[in-house]
Amino acid sequence: MTLHHGVIGNPIKHSLSPMIHEYFANEFKLDIHYEKYLFELNNFSEQVKQLIQNNVTGLNVTVPFKTDAFNLADELTENAKLAGAVNTLKLEGRHLIGENTDGMGLVSDIRNNLAINLKDKIILIVGAGGATRGIIKPLLDENIKELHILNRTEEKAIELAAKFSQYGEVSGHGIKIDDFKVDIIINATSSSLDGEAPQISDKFYQNSFCYDLMYGSQTPFMVNALNNDANQVFDGLGMLVEQAAKSFEFWTGKRPDSKKVIKKVRERIA
Ligand code: ATR
Repeated sequence: MTLHHGVIGNPIKHSLSPMIHEYFANEFKLDIHYEKYLFELNNFSEQVKQLIQNNVTGLNVTVPFKTDAFNLADELTENAKLAGAVNTLKLEGRHLIGENTDGMGLVSDIRNNLAINLKDKIILIVGAGGATRGIIKPLLDENIKELHILNRTEEKAIELAAKFSQYGEVSGHGIKIDDFKVDIIINATSSSLDGEAPQISDKFYQNSFCYDLMYGSQTPFMVNALNNDANQVFDGLGMLVEQAAKSFEFWTGKRPDSKKVIKKVRERIA
């Protein structure tokens, strides 16, 4: 029996998800048809209903529809509730379940693929939008020492930190603060889209492990990190594949060999 899965976004043309999911399906010899769906900006629920009528049972959801998917789901996982966003929908009977695999994907990539132990680390996340909200709890679950959120608009960082303070040591700051040491910096801003790196103090980069949630050759954040003596610098391709692997597992119950797929995708987009 063919399974029908896909990814919803706008734009969606350049999505790597079909390639990634094809590798996963091939590993288990599953017959999965995975499609890209360009959605109009309004009427999200009508468009999803149409796909369900066409036998689609698993959907990835990307920009700008993660909040729409959150609002549409009949049931939400704990992850999705805390993230305030849904990147994976699964149809069970007539019931639509919303999950968020972004944070788990990031943690898997850092811990399993890059072999960085997160325990007792001081982590700095730059940005206080949806991308940050999705990764805070999974990072706190790794028994890190402190999490600092820095944002151009300081109030948003403080507000977000307060939301998660019951789960661990989290604080929010303006982007100019520089009076503490960090082990790991995660860029969760959308500044690359403006061709810029976020304006954090250069001091933070020295000897730090730097990770950009965006993927691609070298983002402005990665260039800044390399120019300021960062220890190691990574883009978010590993996270992209890992979050896809968690979605695939959520739909099929099977856990793909994501490390192999990261390598293949990296070669294909080089
Ligand atoms: P996403 O869902 O990708 O997180 P978002 O919710 O629009 O998108 O959030 C974008 C984040 O990137 C915000 O934290 C934003 O900072 P502000 O809250 O001050 O707007 C941050 N951001 C975008 N462009 C930036 C830039 N050029 N420098 C620093 N931060 C930037």
